[in-house]
Amino acid sequence: METVQVNLGPRTYPIRIGSGLLSHLGPLLRDHNFAAGRVAVATDSNVGKIYREKTAATLTTAGFDPCFIEIPAGEEHKNFAWLSFLYDKLIEGRLERRSPLIALGGGVVGDMAGFAAATFQRGLPFVQVPTSLLAQVDSSVGGKTAVNHSAGKNLIGAFYQPRLVVIDVETLTTLPRREFLSGVAEVIKYGVILSPELFSLLEEQLSSLLRLDALLLTTIIKTSCQLKALVVEEDETEGDYRAILNFGHTLGHAIETATEYKRFLHGEAVAMGMVFAVHLSQQRGLCSAAVKDRVTRLIKKAGLPVEIPKTLSRDTLRLGIETDKKVAGGKVKFVCLEDIGRTRFEYLSAQEIVGHLRGGSQ
Ligand SMILES: NC(=O)c1ccc[n+]([C@@H]2O[C@H](COP(=O)([O-])OP(=O)(O)OC[C@H]3O[C@@H](n4cnc5c(N)ncnc54)[C@H](O)[C@@H]3O)[C@@H](O)[C@H]2O)c1
Ligand SMILES: [Zn+2]
Repeated sequence: METVQVNLGPRTYPIRIGSGLLSHLGPLLRDHNFAAGRVAVATDSNVGKIYREKTAATLTTAGFDPCFIEIPAGEEHKNFAWLSFLYDKLIEGRLERRSPLIALGGGVVGDMAGFAAATFQRGLPFVQVPTSLLAQVDSSVGGKTAVNHSAGKNLIGAFYQPRLVVIDVETLTTLPRREFLSGVAEVIKYGVILSPELFSLLEEQLSSLLRLDALLLTTIIKTSCQLKALVVEEDETEGDYRAILNFGHTLGHAIETATEYKRFLHGEAVAMGMVFAVHLSQQRGLCSAAVKDRVTRLIKKAGLPVEIPKTLSRDTLRLGIETDKKVAGGKVKFVCLEDIGRTRFEYLSAQEIVGHLRGGSQ
């Protein structure tokens, strides 16, 4: 088992990473001083179907009395109606201020249960057991929790750190392939913006990663969590520095908006956004063609999309960039690449950004 410590003063917490850890969740909670008794486990219909029994068994054996709360799977359920359902179940389940709430699932469950934990009785101890690669390498560090509003994604939320994160890499064997690759895009992002070592490891061992080699997965998830932790420790509440994590996301979000979050998974949109970001960086003379080619090649080799669909016009994408909440004073803080592991912010208008799209679209 590997551990990454997220150092946030009194909100410091560990991430435990390994293969088969879900079967030891009960003892792990006891090791972290959670008293036996009532616990709530929020999950979704897909993850619940596969892992509920195993989770119930380890919790019960360790002296916990779990109450499971199941939400239908899918981003469309990350809303007030299902949050309210979560609160109802926490009340029915007689959860008290010291009873932990465990999120067992992908980022949707994690974000929603995290927000419920932050607000129910002004705060329950929160434990994350992320089961998608995206949630393991992204949502388990940073303490962002949220639900969607009809006016926008993640519009209502809070920063609320978990007390413990347990990552069982074995859960990735049941994750749909496309979802797995979507998570790989975020892993590639960490390599590109923060770590030439991680980037080279991905170049060399991509096929083992895609075969879900457990040891390699553990190393890569650990490294990704460490890298994100370093950024978050520097800037817990999204001041300046944390914005580097938006690499590939400016255009990625615009693509997601333009296709109404239906055509692409988040990581797929980010993959196209990263390819565009290195193209823009090269065109503006910030990075070499060799760097651009290396990044593009790895993303392509991972089976992620690199070409923006021709059907998405410059105007549509420009509008998408302009409506992104990160636009300030007409300029977007666009994350450019100078070299693998070295970024720099450029303040550009949406018009200037889409001016770098090739031909009809890219
Ligand atoms: N809090 C943060 O910092 C943060 C960071 C990134 C993303 N997010 C949020 O996370 C969400 C996306 O997360 P996601 O990609 O995990 O989506 P998700 O939670 O919808 O999971 C994707 C799909 O995989 C299924 N699934 C998850 N784990 C599985 C497993 N082990 N076996 C079988 N099926 C499994 C889910 O049921 C779902 O159908 C978005 O709402 C996004 O806003 C939050
Ligand atoms: Zn992302």
